[in-house]
Amino acid sequence: MVLTEQARPLSLEMTEEHEMLVSAVRDFAQREIVPIAAEYDESGAFPLETVRKMGEMGLMGIEMPEAYGGAGMDTLAHVLTMIEIAKADASHSTILSVNNSLYCYGILKFGTEAQKREWITPVASGEQIGAYSLTEPMSGSDAGNMASRAVLNDAGTHYIINGRKSWVTSAPVADRIVLFTMTAEDAPHRSGGKQKGKITAFLIDTRRPGFIRGKNEPKLGIRASATSEIIFDNYECPVEQVLGQVGGGFKIAMTVLDAGRIGIAAQALGIAEAAYEAGLEYARQREAFGAPIGSFQMIQQKIADMKTRIEASRALLYQAVIAKGRALASGKRYTTEASMAKLFCSETAAFVTDEALQIHGGMGYSKEMPVERYYRDARITRIYEGTSEIQRMVIARNELGLR
Ligand code: CAA
Repeated sequence: MVLTEQARPLSLEMTEEHEMLVSAVRDFAQREIVPIAAEYDESGAFPLETVRKMGEMGLMGIEMPEAYGGAGMDTLAHVLTMIEIAKADASHSTILSVNNSLYCYGILKFGTEAQKREWITPVASGEQIGAYSLTEPMSGSDAGNMASRAVLNDAGTHYIINGRKSWVTSAPVADRIVLFTMTAEDAPHRSGGKQKGKITAFLIDTRRPGFIRGKNEPKLGIRASATSEIIFDNYECPVEQVLGQVGGGFKIAMTVLDAGRIGIAAQALGIAEAAYEAGLEYARQREAFGAPIGSFQMIQQKIADMKTRIEASRALLYQAVIAKGRALASGKRYTTEASMAKLFCSETAAFVTDEALQIHGGMGYSKEMPVERYYRDARITRIYEGTSEIQRMVIARNELGLR
């Protein structure tokens, strides 16, 4: 019998370095982020000071080589960090995830040596903030269907970019952006069900003329993570700032999302853990009918189901981390594992935050307790970096060998 990749026993080594990292990140997150989380959620202000501190700790480029300003650690370190930061505040973990995975990772994988030095270093070190821009007002899940355009000038020196992109995490504060746009006038993304490969990735410096920040999105959750539209109005992008091949942008976007989805799975798990621990504590403390509510079987059922789903999520997340590690060696993709982890962890976060709120009763609905924030923050994990429906589509297509 031949074992499938998923059927192989898991093996993931938690080193002393990982243990020290978790301890340092947990200490920082509980001491510096937890006390400000509710205030920043309420105001929607960007938490620049604590984001800078995450940079000083090496967290803004965890997997980036030290030569490019990163911490030079592995995917497990990244995931463990995401869980601890998300437990303290989901908004901080969103900023962290976009900087690490959606911005830095793609440049590391597809950039030239000069691009890596110039474009990763300031962002991985936390001096500047990075973003990733794929979505447009009329296309989210159908990511390849874009209205924005980049046209090469007659001299062949610059692309002139025009168009509007939406839902760009960190855009209101980003210094640099990895942008995906069409490089062929009127060319369809697909023809007869086949991709035409007309999307190109560009490295965008937001200080140059022609880059305009649009309206900030007023969001239900992750409110301290700034999100806005961006507009390109005859933005001149030097040809040296094309990332990868002209026309190769869609595959770059998808490759980067595979890495990003592992980060969002870790974020969802962190939110779920925070809600679970709050629910557990409340079940121990709160008394009703003359006994702690944790002594009642209906509360116990919730605790058991929450805990079981959290641990099942962790196993799938670690499986995705292992798959990514193997993929680095084999060159194969880990798309299915990343999508399964993102799907299951985000749905666990929805379940656990809902049950934790229910355990709290009326107090769970109050802004005086953090559980209502966990409930709101968890909701986005089933939407961004690919909805649960898209993850199911990706998993099923890969299993069926369909495209
Ligand atoms: N890695 C590498 N290549 C990939 C890939 C992957 N994971 N997935 C697809 N590709 C390649 C395919 O092999 C194919 O290449 P060939 O033509 O050479 O064979 C090409 O890309 C096209 O693939 P599909 O035909 O499958 O493309 P599609 O148009 O049907 O779309 C999709 C597939 C899965 C639906 C994709 O569009 C998708 O993931 N959509 C969701 C987008 C998304 O997650 N958006 C969120 C953006 S970021 C965000 O949320 C905001 C933020 O800031 C946090």
